[in-house]
Amino acid sequence: MLSQVFQKLRRQVVGIDHQVPLATGGSAQYVFLDNAASTPTLKPVLDKVQRTLEWYSSIHRGTGYKSNVATEYYEQARRKMIEFVGGDEKPHEVVFAGNTTEAINRLACCLSLPENPAILISPMEHHSNELPWRRFGEVHYLPLAAGGRIDIEAAEKMIASLADRLALVALTGASNITGQFNPIHQLAAAAHRHGARVIIDAAQLAPHCAINIEGSAPGEHLDFIAIAGHKMYAPFGGAALIGRREALADCRPACVGGGTVKLVTRDRVVWADLPGLLEAGTPNVVGAVSMAAAAELLLEVGFDAVREHEIELTRRLIEGLRSIPGLTIYGPADPAKAGERLGVVAFNLEGYPHNLTAAVLSYEYGIGVRNGCFCAHPFVVDLLRIDEADFERRAAAMLAGDRGEVPGMVRVSLGIYNTAEEVDRFLDALRRLAAEGPGVEYELDRPSGAYHPRGFSFEIERLFSTNGSGDHTAITEATGDRTTRA
Ligand SMILES: Cc1ncc(COP(=O)(O)O)c(C=O)c1O
Repeated sequence: MLSQVFQKLRRQVVGIDHQVPLATGGSAQYVFLDNAASTPTLKPVLDKVQRTLEWYSSIHRGTGYKSNVATEYYEQARRKMIEFVGGDEKPHEVVFAGNTTEAINRLACCLSLPENPAILISPMEHHSNELPWRRFGEVHYLPLAAGGRIDIEAAEKMIASLADRLALVALTGASNITGQFNPIHQLAAAAHRHGARVIIDAAQLAPHCAINIEGSAPGEHLDFIAIAGHKMYAPFGGAALIGRREALADCRPACVGGGTVKLVTRDRVVWADLPGLLEAGTPNVVGAVSMAAAAELLLEVGFDAVREHEIELTRRLIEGLRSIPGLTIYGPADPAKAGERLGVVAFNLEGYPHNLTAAVLSYEYGIGVRNGCFCAHPFVVDLLRIDEADFERRAAAMLAGDRGEVPGMVRVSLGIYNTAEEVDRFLDALRRLAAEGPGVEYELDRPSGAYHPRGFSFEIERLFSTNGSGDHTAITEATGDRTTRA
């Protein structure tokens, strides 16, 4: 029954059955395993966008019927995002942004923080939830216990020791590298006991798990949450900062202009109320509406079902990875504990640099993953246990324009529409690489750090030629041979 739901969902993924050309000849049906970066679009989301565009107009400012309709669906999107995180319209507010990074930066610029406050983050943060805080305070790092989890006891002591100086705890809900969950509600309770606020970077959590902004016990609430549509099947440039009104109340606008004011004279400005105060200029209505449509769809499918499906795939993935000789998984790697993490797994295959492994998966097997440092350089360097001298050597080369030896890993990340067959195809490809090596010759492009098969070129124009039908099948027709190497 459950698998039927996900089979149906899979048919709703835009571009799910594209063939891609292989450097070894022929083509293969594409397998997309880079969902932690951005997810593909779901058709109901696209349909909603198309219906919305029929009624598209500037919001809040026009007096025409279309403007009123557009204003209403934009405000409905706000309400849906509050529902998505288990909030309530009275205590919670939504500010739309372009992506998670912008949502966090906007908060960092808007919050009224004391002079040089202490800000506590985890060592596994994405740069987007670390660099903004470095600009506005003294960043301290939560301690990790053996196994890489946040050490709650030590964290609570640290929070207590920072006491009055601690303004904020900024934490990712789950690592975008190891897939590990963080105990966000426990840490929120500890932070609130000392008067600090909590922002959760939920970019990775949102497409996979129910979020509960209120927590399940007093003090466990989350003050701010940042999420992005492009990671939850709505890649139209929408993101949301959802926060408690009381925590946003003393925000100053980082950007000012149209939409942020009630009244302006030559020498006076009366600022608007929330959320307009923090949404300067014409917003990305389509981004907001599409994200809300994706949120609605995910709530309809239900996160219990999403988790069950993804845990099963994650278990299969980890079991398979562990059976490949010479493969190292970074972070937790117990398939029996797949329920304690996301389906995001980072690894390296002995004898092959991460950039070559990812290239082989792409060019020889039609499998899309990500490699590198995943915008969390310090955490990747920690996980790889790169010593200082080695790091400095590689850093000097990188800064001189040679990224050939940039440290990194390969990351595979699952979405709701992925299947056991796709996980198996990925594992078979890795097994074959481990046993036989690459099937074609690769060249390393040192400035970008990417490997490319010798003589292979993309034919993007042909891919987008619509041969009059609007159907992007030119690539399969051009390659002729539809054999799938798997
Ligand atoms: C945990 C986490 N935070 C923040 C970001 C940045 O998100 P965005 O690209 O929406 O700004 C990402 C993107 O990968 C992420 O994984």
